[in-house]
Amino acid sequence: MEEVARSVDATPDLVPMLASLFDGLEALGSTPGRIVSLIAGHVRRGGRVLDLACGKGAVAVEVARRLPVRVEGVDACGEFLDRARERSSALGVAARCRWVEADVRAYAKGCTVRFDLSMMIGLLPLSEAAPLLRRLTRPGGVYVVDDAMLDGRHPGAGRFAGVPDAVMGREIVEELGDRVIRRVMVPRAAIASQNRRILRLLASRVAALAKAHPGRARSLRAFLSRQRSASRLLVGPLRPTIWVIRRGADR
Ligand SMILES: C[S@@+](CC[C@H](N)C(=O)[O-])C[C@H]1O[C@@H](n2cnc3c(N)ncnc32)[C@H](O)[C@@H]1O
Repeated sequence: MEEVARSVDATPDLVPMLASLFDGLEALGSTPGRIVSLIAGHVRRGGRVLDLACGKGAVAVEVARRLPVRVEGVDACGEFLDRARERSSALGVAARCRWVEADVRAYAKGCTVRFDLSMMIGLLPLSEAAPLLRRLTRPGGVYVVDDAMLDGRHPGAGRFAGVPDAVMGREIVEELGDRVIRRVMVPRAAIASQNRRILRLLASRVAALAKAHPGRARSLRAFLSRQRSASRLLVGPLRPTIWVIRRGADR
């Protein structure tokens, strides 16, 4: 559960309250509408789509709602999956959704299915997500990674030398034998307005939870402060970027 906490900028002591902390927020950093528009032309009717680290299923459920496909969502946080299950039922797409509670790496190791399209939105960096997803995607299929990319022209870029820029990202993909077919940098204005909305909501959740659990108040405030710093970086040297990748042949 340590990685689950880290993936949402929380500390392990906050894991029992993650569902309450993110109450009211379906997408944990993703933009479901944008992702669905990007993948719509790449999956056929009845195709199989995988969302690894699906969180509350914001993207997976939107895919099932807008496209005639079957969706599998995998996440290590059972409470997030409960929300995904409820949401898929409420929107009438539960019959085409399957939710699996698992660690993404263990799932990838044990999975024998090759999906038509697979994605990882906001968990592992491109260098780790791409090999994991390609193993789960059929040759000729498509995988999607949403990850922070370095904007090399930004004055603060020097501090993040290990984060891939556009050129390094393409190299990572091509070394695997795959090809980038789209790369979308989310516009700064869109990120800024999404961040404002998320931070407002998180600030009110933190205030309520700190009152109800005074022993956790310090951790909760530190969480909010990390969220604010991460938000600033994402309109600075790091830019959320969606990579749409055509998987090559088996090697
Ligand atoms: C930033 S959230 C993104 C969630 C979702 N993709 C979205 O955009 O709304 C990261 C997600 O990764 C999940 N996670 C973290 N480590 C994981 C692991 N090792 N295996 C499976 N899920 C994990 C967390 O529970 C969380 O739901």
